[in-house]
Amino acid sequence: MKFFIDTANLSDIKEAQELGVLDGVTTNPSLMAKEGITGHDNIINHYKAICAIVDGDVSAEVISTDFEGMVKEGEALAALDEKIVVKIPMIKDGVKALKYFSNKGIKTNCTLVFSAGQALLAAKAGATYVSPFIGRLDDVSTDGMDLIDKIRLIYDNYGYQTEILAASVRHPMHIIQCAEIGADVMTGPLSAITALLKHPLTDIGLEKFLADYAKGNK
Ligand code: G3P
Repeated sequence: MKFFIDTANLSDIKEAQELGVLDGVTTNPSLMAKEGITGHDNIINHYKAICAIVDGDVSAEVISTDFEGMVKEGEALAALDEKIVVKIPMIKDGVKALKYFSNKGIKTNCTLVFSAGQALLAAKAGATYVSPFIGRLDDVSTDGMDLIDKIRLIYDNYGYQTEILAASVRHPMHIIQCAEIGADVMTGPLSAITALLKHPLTDIGLEKFLADYAKGNK
C-alpha cells in the first residue's frame, strides 16, 4: 500500500519523506489555508516547494467548478511539475474533466467521494485515483471502511485501474483496516503514520536489551 501524507505543512512532509516511507502528498484548499498559504501565486509556489521535497505524486486541487475552468486550472497545475496530480471534485463537470485529463494522459485524483456509485463513475471517467473520505463518513455515523470494501469489490469485478486512495484517514486503525481490505493508497496526517511505530512492548524490550548490554560491558 502506498503512503501519502495529507497536509500542506512542509515540515511534516519533510519528516515523512526522511522516514523513507512516503509515496506522495495530497493537499486541498482547507489544508493550504491552515498553513496560511493564500493567493494564487503563493499557492503555486507552495506546490513547487512540496514537489521539491517529495519523490512521488502531489495532488493539487482545482477551485473552479465548471468544465472549462477546471481544464484551464488543471492544465496549468499539471505544467508545474510532472509530480502534480490534478484533484477534481466529484461533480458533473468534474466527471467530464476527469475524462478530458485521462484522454490527455494527465493524472487525476477524484475527491469528495462518499458513495460506491461516485467511485464507479470516477473509474469509468478514467481517474488515476479515487478519494473516498473515510473519516468524514465515520463522523456522520456511517462506516467509512464499508465504502472502501465496496469500491475494492467493484473495481476488482471489472479490473478498473483507478487506484483507491483512502482519504480523510484520522488514525492508525484506519490505515491498518485499509491495508486489510486492499486500498491501493492511504493519505493521512503525519500523526497517523508515526502512530504505527508505537508499541509499549517495543519500548520495554529495547530498554531491557540496552540495560543488559550495559551490565555486560561495564
Ligand atoms: O484527503 C482528504 C482530507 O484532507 C479530508 O480530511 O480530516 O478533513 O476529513 P478531513
